[in-house]
Amino acid sequence: RKILVLHGPNLNLLGAREPQHYGRDTLDAINQRLKKQASQAGFELETLQSNAEYVLIDRIHACTGDKTEFIIINPAAFTHTSVALRDALAGVKVPFIEVHLSNVHAREPFRQHSYFSDLAVGVICGLGAHGYELALSHAIARLGEQV
Ligand code: DQA
Repeated sequence: RKILVLHGPNLNLLGAREPQHYGRDTLDAINQRLKKQASQAGFELETLQSNAEYVLIDRIHACTGDKTEFIIINPAAFTHTSVALRDALAGVKVPFIEVHLSNVHAREPFRQHSYFSDLAVGVICGLGAHGYELALSHAIARLGEQV
């Protein structure tokens, strides 16, 4: 059974990028922890980071064919701009959790609107990389109930 983690633009720079907002963990370290957590629970976990909107959209579309059951997504700056990414998630109807490392509500006003939150199962923000682990543990529990 398959869970997909999507990381949006600039998250490839994690570790070096504005650590006061995003912490010191690299994306690779985060992904490795998530893969371990998923495999211990008997799930397959795929991760993808892209700076290109269409790559994320195409990957979401592929979920229909590859039976992805849950998505964890940090849309990064696309959170605040992308109707297209929103429509992709709405189109495939795969349940998802929206994660942000920083507390977007404590930052600039333009970060306080998300094109995703009303479609999400839930939203986690401000807990740093731990937010992904909490999202994954929820996804695992939820999928475990739907045998
Ligand atoms: C972010 C918050 C966004 O506003 C920002 O553009 C990002 C990262 C976060 O994880 O805190 O790139 O999604």
